[in-house]
Amino acid sequence: MDRKLSPSMMCVDYMSLGKTLETFALQGISFLHMDVMDGRFVPNFALGTDFCRKIRKACTIPLDLHLMVERPEEKLDWFAPQEGEIVSVHWESTNHMQRLLTQIRGYGAKAFVALNPATPFTVLDYLLDVIDGVLVMTVNPGFAGQKLVPSTLRKITDLRAYLDTNGRKDCEIEVDGNVSFENIPKMRDAGANIFVGGTSSVFHSGATLGENIARIKELLQ
Ligand code: DX5
Ligand code: ZN
Repeated sequence: MDRKLSPSMMCVDYMSLGKTLETFALQGISFLHMDVMDGRFVPNFALGTDFCRKIRKACTIPLDLHLMVERPEEKLDWFAPQEGEIVSVHWESTNHMQRLLTQIRGYGAKAFVALNPATPFTVLDYLLDVIDGVLVMTVNPGFAGQKLVPSTLRKITDLRAYLDTNGRKDCEIEVDGNVSFENIPKMRDAGANIFVGGTSSVFHSGATLGENIARIKELLQ
């Protein structure tokens, strides 16, 4: 499965947003990770509907919508998901996951279930026919700049084996949180194939955006 980079847009420097999007397009970035937060599911606000729509209009890179909101089934339509985009909804945020995933696919978007670090992936047992991927949170959701929760590395390995033995070798695994230069090889070897780059890699202050992306591409070979 090819490996893809999805920069976390809540970590972007808004003063150079246009330049950043140009660089992403030139570098062949696969997705733009949009961290949507409602202040209820997570103790933070980030990236509303207007911002997502404006970014969608401003460039051709598909969105990777990460909905960290209560009752996402009531809010999905606000984002008008497009064909080829990813929509990740948290297991912990809804009582209607099966219907919600079907709704997401109805838009032609890819339906991903997001799992907090403590949530076992066995919750997917009766969803394997309606998911296109799993977003494994490698930090507790809500903020950038946190440290990896160590047990999530084992979770990625176990999840990859679980999906493969259940006939879903095609199901993608996205990792999100402290996807750093040091952690990327561990996450890659554990079986992840979509990497959300934030403050510890894509937007790392120690080098330019282009240099950081080049370094990540090396690690994703
Ligand atoms: C956290 C978000 C992540 C975060 C990543 O709730 O889902 O996408 O912004 O930032 P870093 O890479 O700094 O952990
Ligand atoms: Zn995210």
